[in-house]
Amino acid sequence: MAKDKINITVLVSGGGTNLQALIDATEKGEIPGAAINRIISSSYSAYALERGKKHGIETCVVSGKDYPDENERNEKLLEELRNAKTDLIVLAGYMKVLSPLIIKAYERRIINIHPSLIPKYCGKGFYGIRVHEAVIAAGEKESGATVHFVDEGVDTGEIITQKKVPVLPGDTAESLAARVLETEHEILKSSVKKVVEELL
Ligand code: GRF
Repeated sequence: MAKDKINITVLVSGGGTNLQALIDATEKGEIPGAAINRIISSSYSAYALERGKKHGIETCVVSGKDYPDENERNEKLLEELRNAKTDLIVLAGYMKVLSPLIIKAYERRIINIHPSLIPKYCGKGFYGIRVHEAVIAAGEKESGATVHFVDEGVDTGEIITQKKVPVLPGDTAESLAARVLETEHEILKSSVKKVVEELL
């Protein structure tokens, strides 16, 4: 469905550095034809919410606290996505699994950033620092980041972009996480730009 403007909704749960990278890129005109017009957090305490407010982006929270029932929470999420006239959903450090209801409603219009070279170190239990701890423990010489379309699995959708990052001697999970995070920001911006161009 060709459009002249792509409305992006970013789903967050934490610090929001990936969100910040997208905010900065859209404000600099690096992603023509797209705007972030809604941020939805799964947590009231996510600093990502502050980042959005500083840039005048409408935010809301759909949390497990308010909606303990998964189905009700996903229905509320779908309602908010529709209110925002969402064309493209970006999961940026979002820690909840989306229901088939949402996946079907936004087929090939949901993308996720994961801090490893999928299919390694991904899926259930592999998120945040735990990914990097596993990479270090396995003695890997390289890691990386992946942006992929979201399907009904966990970190299993079609890969859009992937970039390798070296694991350096003496790296800790924290030092590796910081190096991978820079690459996440870089490939998230380029992947969003690529998908937006396909949707325009
Ligand atoms: C990043 O490593 C991201 O890949 C993971 O959460 C970490 C923090 O992301 N999902 P952000 O700073 O909240 O964007």
